[in-house]
Amino acid sequence: MTVPAGARSSVAGSLVLSVALLAGCGGGSGGTSPPTTTTATGQLSPMAEVGRQIFSDTALSVSGKQSCATCHVADHAFAAADGRSVPLGGPHMDLPGLRATPSLMYASYAPAFKFASDGTPTGGFFRDGRSPTLADQAQQPFVTSFEMANADAAAVLQKLLTRPYLDQFEAVFGASVVSDPKQALASMGAALAAFQTEDVSFHPFTSKFDAYEAGTTTLTAAELQGLALFNDPTKGNCNACHVSTGSNNVRALFTDFTYDSIGLPRNWKIAANQAASALPYVPANGAQFAPAPYAYYDLGLCGPLRPDLDYRLSLCGAFKVPTLRNVAVKQNYFHNAAYDNLVDAVTWYATRDTNPTRWYRTEDGGIDGAFNDLPASLQGSINRDEVPYNPVTAPTLTSNDIELIVTFLCTLTDGYDPKQPASYRVPSQCQQAAAAARP
Ligand code: HEC
Ligand code: HEC
Repeated sequence: MTVPAGARSSVAGSLVLSVALLAGCGGGSGGTSPPTTTTATGQLSPMAEVGRQIFSDTALSVSGKQSCATCHVADHAFAAADGRSVPLGGPHMDLPGLRATPSLMYASYAPAFKFASDGTPTGGFFRDGRSPTLADQAQQPFVTSFEMANADAAAVLQKLLTRPYLDQFEAVFGASVVSDPKQALASMGAALAAFQTEDVSFHPFTSKFDAYEAGTTTLTAAELQGLALFNDPTKGNCNACHVSTGSNNVRALFTDFTYDSIGLPRNWKIAANQAASALPYVPANGAQFAPAPYAYYDLGLCGPLRPDLDYRLSLCGAFKVPTLRNVAVKQNYFHNAAYDNLVDAVTWYATRDTNPTRWYRTEDGGIDGAFNDLPASLQGSINRDEVPYNPVTAPTLTSNDIELIVTFLCTLTDGYDPKQPASYRVPSQCQQAAAAARP
């Protein structure tokens, strides 16, 4: 969660404050509504069926090599599979992006972006919520210079007119749509949103955790301990933002779709973060926060990709809480891919404040100041009050606790069949954590 502007207090540890924080974060997003229809793959509505074809059609990109499915790979929870921190795209497939590719699984459950009545920013699409709906979001990659790279909606339409599913597209949206580039692109967005909302592969709810909740399987002792640590407000407290219980007839989504500034280390593998970066599309916003040492900072809610909240400095550095469903099959973690495995990601949470020199590095590998991905003048936004960020002197999680939590996170991987538990496929980092964890 993000504490509403002005509400952040220095009375860390105050009971009143902690209760307020927990209520704000764990209270559910309220606006979460289930996708309208959930049908099995192959039984999509005509609109979603068009969306399915667009989703993997590389001919809609200038390079001819990139579609939604290139970056959002089904086997990896519709997140990245290229081993990079950020994807490559553009006309020649050589332009690095600015953020790590998020999973699309369970994304359709996000409500539209809004400030809740207590001021908490909630919902929206992209990691900064700048897009109000899935249908709006889906239009952007086609015309983003370092992604599918079309110059404008008219250029996308020219390509659409050559596609074998054009008849189906016109049958759904009407033939007149293809004489108006903006309407055509908006219709493509609607089709892609319908596909992501209807196709069950985006939200199968078939994890081992789901089977456990349904009473059709049991969790191991280590998995149960990991769940308890995940929920314990004095240990992991992960549940405060990655909510582990369902609401509004939707099963647990492991996010409340709020935002938080958590002070991740700068990832020097992202070209935009490097001093020598000469990418023309990287916004140079560092100078306005002088004496900030770097030319470019990704500040999430307050910009630079999101333009409308740049006067809300208390929101700088806040990014959307992602779901943890299928987190084990992802290749990298957090908006800037700061980590490539779950043990590091969770260890960072537990030791961010007790052992910062382990995590914060300069570009040449030397020790850097803590919170080096935010200019000093904006570091007041960082969440320092809540567990698991160290509230006192020692981490709230031991290294064994961390292995247990990772073992639990692995139960959020979809594809568990209670009748055939032996065929459950979990990534190797899950087996390693389970072997290391002592229940
Ligand atoms: C070059 C790689 C790339 C391509 C191509 C791409 N995406 Fe993405 N996608 C990303 C990245 C990176 C983000 C996060 C960007 C941000 O937060 O600013 C993202 C974000 C999203 C989100 C937001 C998820 C959330 O939880 O807020 C959705 C939905 C999405 N993409 C769908 C699509 C669709 C549909 C297409 C095809 C039209 C597509 N993407 C094409 C890389 C890509
Ligand atoms: C106060 C809210 C909050 C708490 C508490 C919290 N998280 Fe997070 N978590 C976030 C936010 C916000 C992000 C995304 C941050 C970003 O990308 O900049 C995130 C991202 C993650 C990711 C990366 C997921 C991905 O797909 O990239 C993992 C893994 C994770 N959290 C695990 C945990 C665990 C385990 C705990 C408990 C030990 C925990 N979190 C506690 C807010 C929280």
